[in-house]
Order: sequence, then C-alpha cells, then structure tokens
Amino acid sequence: MCGIVGYLGSKEAYPILINGLKRLEYRGYDSAGLAIHNGSEIKQYKRKGKVARMEEIAANSPHEGTLGIAHTRWATHGEPNDVNSHPHTSMSGRFHIIHNGIIENFASIKEALKSRGFTFQSDTDTEVLINLIEDIYTEGAKSLSKAVKAALNQVSGAYAIAVIDSEDPNTMVVAKMGSPLVVGISDNEYFVASDATPFLEYTKRAIYLEDGQMATLRRGENIHLYNVISDEPVEPYIHQLTLDIASIEKGGYEHFMLKEIYEQPQSIHDSLRGRLLAEEGKIIMRGVSEYKAKFMNAERIIIVGCGTSWHAGLVAEYVFEELARIPVEVEYASEFRYRNPIITEKDVVIAISQSGETADTLAAIKLAKSKGATIFGVCNIVGSSIARESHAGAFTHAGPEIGVASTKAFTAQVAVLTLMALKIGQERGNIPKTQYLKYLHALSQIPGQVERVLKCNDENLIAIAEEYASALNFLYLGRGVNFPVALEGALKLKEISYIHAEGYPAAEMKHGPIALIDENMPVVIIAQQNANYEKVVSNAQEVKARKGKIIAIINPGDTDMRHLADHCIEVEETDELFSPLLTTIPLQLLSYHIAVILGRNVDQPRNLAKSVTVE
Ligand code: AGP
Repeated sequence: MCGIVGYLGSKEAYPILINGLKRLEYRGYDSAGLAIHNGSEIKQYKRKGKVARMEEIAANSPHEGTLGIAHTRWATHGEPNDVNSHPHTSMSGRFHIIHNGIIENFASIKEALKSRGFTFQSDTDTEVLINLIEDIYTEGAKSLSKAVKAALNQVSGAYAIAVIDSEDPNTMVVAKMGSPLVVGISDNEYFVASDATPFLEYTKRAIYLEDGQMATLRRGENIHLYNVISDEPVEPYIHQLTLDIASIEKGGYEHFMLKEIYEQPQSIHDSLRGRLLAEEGKIIMRGVSEYKAKFMNAERIIIVGCGTSWHAGLVAEYVFEELARIPVEVEYASEFRYRNPIITEKDVVIAISQSGETADTLAAIKLAKSKGATIFGVCNIVGSSIARESHAGAFTHAGPEIGVASTKAFTAQVAVLTLMALKIGQERGNIPKTQYLKYLHALSQIPGQVERVLKCNDENLIAIAEEYASALNFLYLGRGVNFPVALEGALKLKEISYIHAEGYPAAEMKHGPIALIDENMPVVIIAQQNANYEKVVSNAQEVKARKGKIIAIINPGDTDMRHLADHCIEVEETDELFSPLLTTIPLQLLSYHIAVILGRNVDQPRNLAKSVTVE
C-alpha cells in the first residue's frame, strides 16, 4: 500500500526522491519521509501527512547526497504519526530502511530483540526488521546484503524494502516478497520504486523483481540479483518501458480523476484496438486463443476481484452467461481465498485487477492455481504480480490510472471482458453469425458514444450535484447488467465524497431499502430502453410514491421516466449488454462534482490507497 523510492548514482538524490514520492502518493498518503547519504552521514526527514508537508522541512534543511531512500505511507501497524513514518532506523542509528508490506511475525521477533537489549521508538513492524538486520550484522554478518538476506529468512509476510548503511555511501540493498519493486537502470545509476513512474524521465530500462529475490546495487557495478533463500544468482531480465511522462501528468485537468474520466473514449478504444476487427468480423485475443481448449471445455468460470474490479466482474457475469453460455461465479477475492472453495482443473479463474498487485486477488489466484485451475489475468499494469502469476491474460491498456477512484480502468475491464465473452461465445457456437456481426459493430461504436455521453458534463449535471451535495444518503438502482453499475456508482460516491450510498438491484428495493425513502433521499435510477425498462419504471414509481428524489439515467426520447424523474441525464442507446460502458459515465461525473463541491480531496480520498497490497 505504501510507495517506496530509492536512488543511487551521480545526480542529487533529493529532487528525484521528492518527485518520485509525489508520483507514488496515490499508494498512500498518511506520512512521508526520506533518508539521504551525503558521503559521510545520513540525514533523515519524515512527517505525518502528505509529501508536501515533509518537503517543508526537508527543502530547508541539508539534503545533499547521491544515495537516498524515500517512502509514502498507508498505515498498517501503528497510527499515522511522525514517529511511525518511514524511513526507520536501527537502534544504533546506522541502518535505514523503507518498507511496503507487512511483517506478520514481527511481534515474536520484537520480543526476542527486546530480550537482547533492543529498544523501539515506533509501533511498526518495519522498525523490528531493521533492528533484526542490525542484530545479525553485529553478530558477524560480513556485509549488509548478508545481514538483510539472513533477516529475510526469518520473517514471514510481505515486503518490498530498500536498506542503506550510514557507513557505506555506495550501496543499497533491495528485496521483494509480495509487494512490488522495480529497479530502473541507467549509466552508473539505479532507481528503485514501487512502480516505474518515479524514474520514467531518466530511464526506460527496468528490472521487475520477482518474489523471493533481492538485489545489491553498488555504485559503478552491475546489479547483483539473487534468490533470498538459495543465494543463487539470477540473470536479470531488462524490460523496455513504453510509458511516457505525459500519460502520468494532469494535462490541464484540475484532477486526475476528471482527466481519467475524459480519457475513456481513448482508453476503451485502446482496450479494443488490434483485438476487435469489426469489419472483418473477427476478434483476436492471443491469451484466449492459447487457452482455447480450456475455455471451450470450462465447466465454470470463476471471476475474482475487489472493489471496482469486482463490479466489472459482476458485469462480466451477465455478459458471459448470455454470450458464452458458461456458468459464472463472481467472488470477492478476500472471501474466496479463505473459504476452502471447490475448484477443479475444469475451472477457469479470471482475475480482474487494475493494479495487478491487490493482495487478496493475488492470493486467490495462487490458491486456484494450486488446485489446478487455469488463471486468466485481466490487469492494467504490465509486469504486475497478478499478470505474471496468471497462465494467460489480456491487458486492459487503459494507461496509468492515478486517481484513487477507478474510472477508466473499470470501463476498460468491462470492454476486455465483453470481447472475451463474444469471442468465446462465437467459438462455442452460441451466437448466430449475423447477431455476432451486429455485436461487433455495436462494440466498435462505443468509444465514439462515450465521447458524446461525456457531453452530459454540463450545467444540468452540475446543478444536480449542487442540489444533492448535502444529502446524507444516496440510493442507486439498476437492473440486469446495470445492477453492477448501480453498485459502482454508489462506490464512487462513497469513496470520494464520503456520503453514504448503497447500490441495489431495483427490484430488491421493496425488500428493505424502500423503508429509507423519504423526501430527503436522492435515488439514482439507471433506466435504459431494454427488456427491463417497464419494470424499472415501476420501481421508479414506487420511489416517487414515497416522495424520493429521482435522478434518472435515461436514453434520448424516453418520456415515461422523464415524466417521473426529478432530473434526467441522457446517454445514447447501445445493445443492452454493452450499456454499462455508457451508463457508468454520468455516475462517475456526478460523484466527481459532488466531491468537488464538498471540497474533498478527489484524487486522494481519506483512508484509501490506490493499490491494496495488504489483506
Ligand atoms: C475503486 O475506485 C477503488 N479505489 C478500489 O475499490 C479498487 O477497485 C480495488 O482496491 C481493487 O483494485 P485493483 O483493481 O487494483 O485490484
């Protein structure tokens, strides 16, 4: 959940670390800190709050040096305060560490260290680890690398760490287990980070460490990569990065979230590009073709994910069952992994994750893999842990998503899953040729339609946001494939505006939530011209009869809902199965405007982090 950055080279480390932290702040922003070696000693600054607060002290204090480590924190062990902030220092002050992850057996190690005379300043597991390293070092380990390696062989849990030594300005030791860590390589310099964004302007060459690997980075020497347990050297594989700087900056938008909402015509287009050949009547998906037999014979598809990715899975359930005619189960990864699920070799497990690093999703696929299932990853981040753990997959190609609230990643996930369902459905002989061609054509129109739906970001929508920004609760209703859209709309509102919101299948309202409806309850109803339309109108009538305020997402020309609703937002019609790609857009915008009106931190809402690498 935290972000780590490190630098070793000939440049001043400070600006690289600060810029790197700002790019990684989406991973957590409870506190920030850095440690820089100036050739003779290490200076350390850390503070509760965002990077900018820590910068206030560091910028006006000595911070020269060409070796440094830095951290932005999402608190797990110990409340977010200055003392619990990283970097942490060993008791003697010699060794400094940054850590993303959780050391699960820290309590017993802490007790053992205490009995050996160690004292602790913070409540963190990380301080325990750095003191364990110091203890092993002083007991006779010949080098920092050896001490780190021995310490890591005693801990269980997850980590991406970088360690430096006050008595050695030329070395940094890094290691990975469960949390992401990438090393950027340039001429005589190394960059270390949780993802590649902190060093994109310096190098496009990167090594993604695998679980159980560590590396010693020494000034003027090649990287030394090896296995934590066996000590065997590992030949590094150097990735050529294709990301560019423009894609990770705001580009004139006030918030990343708004920029990312507006990027959706392009991101959906990119997720379909080279795969959907509507004119030729073809879908090309290498990962699906490679595992064609598995999909053809699958007795069941299990979809795992968390949060928004789980919602994309729910949309996919409708689409797969309709088109591919394979039974689908959609599971919260966090529940799935702990309930001894029945999995066989005939199951295909689709793991959906923007970051590709979500701990629960990763653990779920490891479990399913161990039971013989085929794992298909639908991830946004190339090189991420889930992508690498999967047998096959399809990247969503949405580009970097920085806003903590997921927007373009969701629609790209839905687009990719829809393509998969169409391809598998066609190959299983479930879709008549003419209907298949119609689907392909309709899907190819989606990016242009999203472009037009974005025009709903107008005075009408802002007026609706203003009218209801002070509401304490919201209800979101949808049916069929738009039920998960209602869940997603409610999640977006909750996470960035802190207004309580619930998503429900419209017909379920009368089994409970209807009791909540009065003149103060805004009810967002997704009412599209499809088989469910009349039923949704009836549900809207039930809301109206109880004086609820209706905000309806309708198609142009709809008169019934327009008559009933207090407010309407129009989206173009498409095939029912593809409608989530359009109906989601106004819900994203509504949440965005309400959060802005309430003065919330839209891109970095409280208590959240973009990448949840702890369970
Ligand atoms: C979405 O807006 C959330 N911030 C969150 O629910 C997110 O979708 C979830 O944590 C899963 O992340 P992933 O897609 O990176 O696995």
